[in-house]
Amino acid sequence: MATIILLFLLLSGLSTITAQQKYSNITLGSSLSPKTNPSSWLSPSGQFAFGFYPEGEDDFIVAIWFAQVPEKTVIWTYNQDDPKNPSNVTLQMTTDGRLVLQTARGQAKDIPTATDSASSASMLDSGNFVLYDSNLDVLWESFNSPTDTIVQGQRLLADSRLVSSASRTDHSKGRFILGMQTDGNLVQYPYTDTSWATPWYSYWSSNTYGAGDNVTVNLDKNGHLYLLNSTGFNIRNLSPAVSPSDGTIYYRMTIDVDGIFRLYSLSPSDNWSIKWSSTEDKCEPKGLCGLNGYCTLSDQESVCRCLPGFDFVNQAQRMLGCGKNTSEYGCEKENYSMRLLDSTEWEDNPYAILSSPNIQDCEEMCLTDCNCEAAIFSNLKCSKQRLPLRFGRRVINSESTALIKVGNRRFTTTNEPEPNKQGKKVLSHEILITIVVIAIVAFIVLMVSGVLIYRYRVWVYHQLPDTGRIGLNEEITLQSFTYLELEKATNGFREEVGRGSFGTVFKGVISNGERIIAVKRLERVVDEGEREFRTEMRVIGRTHHKNLVRLLGYCHEGSNRLLVYEYMCNGSLENFLFKPEKYPSWDERVGIALNIARGILYLHEECETQIIHCDIKPQNILMDEFFCAKISDFGLAKLLKPDQTKTFTGIRGTRGYVAPEWHRNLPITVKADVYSYGIMLMEIICCRKKLDTELQEDEIVLSDWVLQCFEEGDLGKLVDDEVVDKKRLERMVKVALWCIQDDPALRPHMKKVVLMLEGTIEIPVPPGPSSFLSSI
Ligand SMILES: *[C@@H]1O[C@H](CO)[C@@H](O)[C@H](O)[C@H]1NC(C)=O
Ligand SMILES: *[C@@H]1O[C@H](CO)[C@@H](O)[C@H](O)[C@H]1NC(C)=O
Ligand SMILES: *[C@@H]1O[C@H](CO)[C@@H](O)[C@H](O)[C@H]1NC(C)=O
Ligand SMILES: *[C@@H]1O[C@H](CO)[C@@H](O)[C@H](O)[C@H]1NC(C)=O
Ligand SMILES: *[C@@H]1O[C@H](CO)[C@@H](O)[C@H](O)[C@H]1NC(C)=O
Ligand SMILES: *[C@@H]1O[C@H](CO)[C@@H](O)[C@H](O)[C@H]1NC(C)=O
Ligand SMILES: *[C@@H]1O[C@H](CO)[C@@H](O)[C@H](O)[C@H]1NC(C)=O
Repeated sequence: MATIILLFLLLSGLSTITAQQKYSNITLGSSLSPKTNPSSWLSPSGQFAFGFYPEGEDDFIVAIWFAQVPEKTVIWTYNQDDPKNPSNVTLQMTTDGRLVLQTARGQAKDIPTATDSASSASMLDSGNFVLYDSNLDVLWESFNSPTDTIVQGQRLLADSRLVSSASRTDHSKGRFILGMQTDGNLVQYPYTDTSWATPWYSYWSSNTYGAGDNVTVNLDKNGHLYLLNSTGFNIRNLSPAVSPSDGTIYYRMTIDVDGIFRLYSLSPSDNWSIKWSSTEDKCEPKGLCGLNGYCTLSDQESVCRCLPGFDFVNQAQRMLGCGKNTSEYGCEKENYSMRLLDSTEWEDNPYAILSSPNIQDCEEMCLTDCNCEAAIFSNLKCSKQRLPLRFGRRVINSESTALIKVGNRRFTTTNEPEPNKQGKKVLSHEILITIVVIAIVAFIVLMVSGVLIYRYRVWVYHQLPDTGRIGLNEEITLQSFTYLELEKATNGFREEVGRGSFGTVFKGVISNGERIIAVKRLERVVDEGEREFRTEMRVIGRTHHKNLVRLLGYCHEGSNRLLVYEYMCNGSLENFLFKPEKYPSWDERVGIALNIARGILYLHEECETQIIHCDIKPQNILMDEFFCAKISDFGLAKLLKPDQTKTFTGIRGTRGYVAPEWHRNLPITVKADVYSYGIMLMEIICCRKKLDTELQEDEIVLSDWVLQCFEEGDLGKLVDDEVVDKKRLERMVKVALWCIQDDPALRPHMKKVVLMLEGTIEIPVPPGPSSFLSSI
């Protein structure tokens, strides 16, 4: 009984509060305060409220909002520059007819400035807050100073603008503007603290320039959004015209935090739903990702990323842009390298524009200019830029590439120190001592671990399976993709980045744009069962080496077979090596040769299942963002149809990368890869292709010419008298000549190749020319 009475009291109490809050006529002397009743004045229907709206921890903004939707929607904010107030302020209709915001210290701010004294105010059911004079004429209305929204029945006048909010929970000024200009054009552009950006940077416009100087944006009761010129003609429909509604549906048009303006509708009891937006492309608003950041789409949603070498200023708010720790590398060109970010477009604000035949040339121009911090290469033009870069976005198929100058970290891991050349005797002494020490240490370790393993066998048995599985999940499990996912990731297989023996390669993005991938659509492969395919994938998936392109996942659906690899942004070795404008330096080439050798060694001897690549060539060596060489396409040879083995190697009668045993129906072993490596090593040394018919006769076939120079003892000719380490050059040439021996048995294993290249073991003089060329 008592509870029922209590409930009744509570309910009646509530209803009186609600009744008290409705003020169709706000008389002089009324006031509001954030923490005590009333904190707002409602419109007669209760749909709109004017007053204190809680924002953030313990702050309040003076605002108008939709009061009856579950998620209260602010449509007007007082003082967008600095809207927050502490809880000890009050809002008063003073007895002398002013609407003021009063601080606890007694300071007062007039909300509408410079109006005559009002005699009453009203929160109307249209969403308009109005001050009246004694004749009930309107002195001031909130509709005439909109912030980020207009509602039905409201118009945006010429020479006024909407400014987006900073975020859903912060109604201060954000980053984007929708401006109704006096030239008749409605435009959107980014807003920055320092300046009202000019329409130079506009990213959307109504294309009504010249339609007269008093054009207005109108939103009517039916949710129709359109532009009227000063004589009242509809000059442009924005949202499609709609059939008349019964007036129970509310509409609002808001320039949202993300810079897109949208028309929303709210049916009774319903949530807001989008009826129309200025664009579907969420990366369109310029500068969405802040300085040095760029926008990329993933599942139609925008995702911000940073320039290479940069990090988010604030991980939690990625829209704020990116920065980097400045470290001085001085002005020397050698201390920098350029990193590529292709298919990205930026504000073009160069301090110099130069014509440039290709990217390498543009890189060079920026590297040799101390002032250049970045460059944009597009349409055979290289525009040199200073940081920060603005308005970045990824545009699939764009010809524009950003080049960013970063402090050098290239090849720091691949440049082997030269072995000690003097004092072989000292060296052998050292080696002897080292071996003895190692043997002793190894013996002790063995003993100790033997005891430990014996004593803790039970413990190990319990612990290992768990940790083992975690490692397995992270490292080895390949992701299985559906065809649809990959179609989406590649935007419908839009951007082709390569074409190889096994099929076409497309660029795409996964994980919300975090990861760029290369999707290889296999063609010309054996139509084997699902199970066999999975087995092959598992073998490839288990390979982990820094000089192998990583397989991330695959898709096998019906006849579709696709492989998903990490994306290598700097293209193939072929592109890198044979560009006369900018050959890689000698040190870079030495690093590349070693890296590839290590990758092949891993495939042959170090991974779980031996993999013979069968197609080693520069097109199959890819360069990552640090210009580290990685082998691709390994493990796929088994998938090829048997009748393709001849054609996929790409040679027809000329000596290519293919070992002679391919033509002799001899079994193919790891030594076939060694042969191909040898040919490629020569190309790396000389920066030219294995066959170049434009050269003098004795230079056409590279391997013959290398042998000739070697026998003549004039290796300098091979590198065009570039300044190189002569000893190392000779070593590399000798290794290459050993690798291309006709007889597979004479060719060294990759292990030995690596050791010889590193200079760890002596290299005997290679035997004379192979007789193979004349035999075909
Ligand atoms: C509000 O009330 C006052 C006094 O009761 C009256 O003079 C005034 O006309 C009313 N205003 C409106 C808009 O109804
Ligand atoms: C009002 O509140 C603010 C913040 O809570 C505080 O800094 C200020 O001292 C208060 N003023 C008075 C007069 O209490
Ligand atoms: C408004 O548009 C109508 C129709 O296009 C045109 O005839 C009229 O001249 C325009 N008014 C002004 C002031 O430009
Ligand atoms: C546009 O509006 C302003 C202010 O209302 C007025 O002074 C001006 O004459 C108008 N211009 C035209 C072309 O109607
Ligand atoms: C309204 O929609 C928003 C986003 O679409 C959602 O987050 C919110 O939960 C919805 N509210 C209700 C009450 O359905
Ligand atoms: C800069 O260095 C600090 C400290 O080393 C680190 O916390 C921060 O993430 C770095 N910022 C960037 C942009 O690299
Ligand atoms: C720049 O590189 C040179 C060698 O090329 C090196 O001596 C110098 O210390 C580097 N400068 C900085 C600031 O790292």
